[in-house]
Amino acid sequence: MAIPSLLSLIFFFLFLTSTLISSSPVEDPELVVQEVHRSINESRRNLGYLSCGTGNPIDDCWRCDPNWASNRQRLADCAIGFGKNAIGGRNGKIYVVTDSGNDDPVTPKPGTLRYGVIQSEPLWIIFARDMVIQLKEELIMNSFKTIDGRGASVHIAGGPCITIQYVSNIIIHGINIHDCKQGGNAMVRDSPGHYGWRTISDGDGVSIFGGSHIWVDHCSLSNCVDGLIDAIMGSTAITISNNYMTHHDKVMLLGHSDSYTKDTGMQVTIAFNHFGEGLVQRMPR
Ligand SMILES: *[C@@H]1O[C@H](CO)[C@@H](O)[C@H](O)[C@H]1NC(C)=O
Repeated sequence: MAIPSLLSLIFFFLFLTSTLISSSPVEDPELVVQEVHRSINESRRNLGYLSCGTGNPIDDCWRCDPNWASNRQRLADCAIGFGKNAIGGRNGKIYVVTDSGNDDPVTPKPGTLRYGVIQSEPLWIIFARDMVIQLKEELIMNSFKTIDGRGASVHIAGGPCITIQYVSNIIIHGINIHDCKQGGNAMVRDSPGHYGWRTISDGDGVSIFGGSHIWVDHCSLSNCVDGLIDAIMGSTAITISNNYMTHHDKVMLLGHSDSYTKDTGMQVTIAFNHFGEGLVQRMPR
């Protein structure tokens, strides 16, 4: 598939199955698609001379609020498509990342991003200042977390990046994810009560493995070892929106194998992304 650079595309992908698979949260995907179109139409109707609207229903949902920074959790109500019900850390406490270094994969230190993402309770994670976070191992997230980079320039770069494995309700917004490397052959904590041995990872920007209710919005992603965003092994109920992707070979993989039948029920919405320069293939595959 040849994709010209600097082309904004809206794709609505439906992966349907003739049999009802329990991992599919939506039985009538056409209704979800109609709802997406309706919200886009609605946003466009509100474009006006004195309106702050852009016609992008996700952005218009929160950016028109001048006090968005004190109403951060409202973002959780702004998704469209199959990942719409991802609540992330909504109704949880705000957790502020103050420490960009000191990554300890087994005993994370309070104040680091890793300490926030492994917790059991819902958390809305924000950043005290601009920072570059170079992780030593994959960042293995626990359920009900939002990583909200608004208001700061946050890079997760130069080491292993984000892994969303067998968890649900994750929102990742406004993070620069790039130059992701493989991690592994190491112990990594995934919750306050558990850590385990990780084999060598793919080196994805965001790896979704058996994850559901996931929303990745307004991230920039580039130059990783494997995929920028890969969703495999029964992952579903995902929205990938407003991301800016550049300089990368295998951009996006949705399901790794035709013979893995659980993925025939995968439901993903891909909308308002910018497939930019220097991309090679899988946009998506
Ligand atoms: C959205 O607007 C287009 C163009 O006006 C129209 O064809 C379509 O039916 C509308 N869709 C919905 C779901 O409102």
